[in-house]
Amino acid sequence: VSKGINCLDAAKACNLNGTCKKYRSAYITPCTTRVSMSEVCNKRKCHKALRLFFDKVPQKHSYGMLFCSCQDTACIERRRQTIVPICSYEDKEKPNCLNLQESCKTNYICRSRLADFFTNCQPESRSVSSCLKENYAHCLLAYSGLIGTVMTPNYIDSISISVAPWCNCSNSGNNQEECEKFLNFFKNNICLQNAIQAFGNGTDMNVWQPVPPLQTTTATYFKIKDKTLFSSAPLRNINEISTDDYAKIISVCANLQ
Ligand SMILES: *[C@@H]1O[C@H](CO)[C@@H](O)[C@H](O)[C@H]1NC(C)=O
Ligand SMILES: *[C@@H]1O[C@H](CO)[C@@H](O)[C@H](O)[C@H]1NC(C)=O
Repeated sequence: VSKGINCLDAAKACNLNGTCKKYRSAYITPCTTRVSMSEVCNKRKCHKALRLFFDKVPQKHSYGMLFCSCQDTACIERRRQTIVPICSYEDKEKPNCLNLQESCKTNYICRSRLADFFTNCQPESRSVSSCLKENYAHCLLAYSGLIGTVMTPNYIDSISISVAPWCNCSNSGNNQEECEKFLNFFKNNICLQNAIQAFGNGTDMNVWQPVPPLQTTTATYFKIKDKTLFSSAPLRNINEISTDDYAKIISVCANLQ
């Protein structure tokens, strides 16, 4: 029995919420209105309305539709269609991913959101969550922040939760490896995939919600001498830790177990 968020239920829930319904229709319209024989829509307007949707709508609803959990292909397809990919995602040609990255860098919203994505969805195989930052919520926020930029990612097929921007690594010249690395950060990213799955499965909120930042102003500190305790997250800077935070970490660990 799954307590997960089913995609159809998520769409219904959005419709019943005034805010979600309003911002959803506000992007469905420009994203589905043909402007000429050759243009299926006004991509710029569609992107702008999508950014507004993810900015304004409570994550419970926006994530509910984007990261819902699926058992069958109809559901997976519904999830893939959330952002109206024919307009927001697809294009006539697939540019080279590194060229796409360059064009993203010329726009400050795209540039900063891409940097955010690389920071917050950095995989780390030795960490508990598979994320270097150990924070699923921040990774999902960074991912959804890319929607409505030239780097808009989406699910690439009807079987998996693998995602990618609309680009490939043909014509990479000497930068083939760099291009593959960039593309794989989207396509084969265990941190992002775990974050998506955790939300979709309705995993205990403690696991994916932000853990409050470690307070450095508290008077009492433990010096953690024995770093082996944290060997599953060796790259985190936890030389000093307050008693309160220590208790929080222990409880998070208990939940994970
Ligand atoms: C929409 O849903 C959010 C989160 O559940 C809630 O806080 C908000 O009041 C709802 N808004 C409307 C207009 O229903
Ligand atoms: C990459 O996209 C281009 C342009 O759409 C296409 O011609 C090419 O076949 C694609 N390459 C791969 C490996 O799919």
